[in-house]
Amino acid sequence: MREFLLYSRTGRTDANFKNLVDGGRLDIVYQCTLMAIFKSAAHRHDAVFHAILNGAPNPPLKLSINGNDLRDARIDERSWESILRNVLSGGAHPGIETAKISLQRFIEDKHREGYKIYVLSDEGEPIASQDLSGDILFVIGDHVGLPKKDEGFVLRYGKAVSLGREKYLAASCIDIVNYTLDTKV
Ligand SMILES: C[S@@+](CC[C@H](N)C(=O)[O-])C[C@H]1O[C@@H](n2cnc3c(N)ncnc32)[C@H](O)[C@@H]1O
Repeated sequence: MREFLLYSRTGRTDANFKNLVDGGRLDIVYQCTLMAIFKSAAHRHDAVFHAILNGAPNPPLKLSINGNDLRDARIDERSWESILRNVLSGGAHPGIETAKISLQRFIEDKHREGYKIYVLSDEGEPIASQDLSGDILFVIGDHVGLPKKDEGFVLRYGKAVSLGREKYLAASCIDIVNYTLDTKV
């Protein structure tokens, strides 16, 4: 499996928002979902996108979207605003789960399951020289970046990997990683 984890400092943990931007930048969660899960006219069945939401009123909340199980989801922002509003108010949607799990607990679980864990950072080692086989979790910061203390925790279980010297949007990073994995020989 290829899995992506976005650490969202401000993403709301309820459905009390006017729109995704107003929801503590849930628009970034939407953009990352699109890049992680959707190909042209198909889902990635081997991909899961997670976001740890740390916004009000009840953080942390892990939101997970599984490309294999996802149903009834178009790619436009309005559809996802309504899907996220539903699941964040306790509703169900096929392929989407929420759980009260911290970043630390999630990373420990993935480590125990044998996942390689890579923190995406422009200061890391080039992705081209990494072992990209098997189950991998890529950890990504939001618009502000990953908090240093949390980055330090994740790095106990993995390493920092770079996509180059430019700083990209979180969603662009997921797209680049997917392309890299799709085209590796
Ligand atoms: C929009 S960037 C964060 C920008 C933030 N101002 C900073 O300085 O970290 C969001 C996330 O994308 C990832 N990222 C951006 N550019 C990258 C690159 N060149 N290589 C690896 N990861 C990158 C990092 O995980 C970063 O936390």
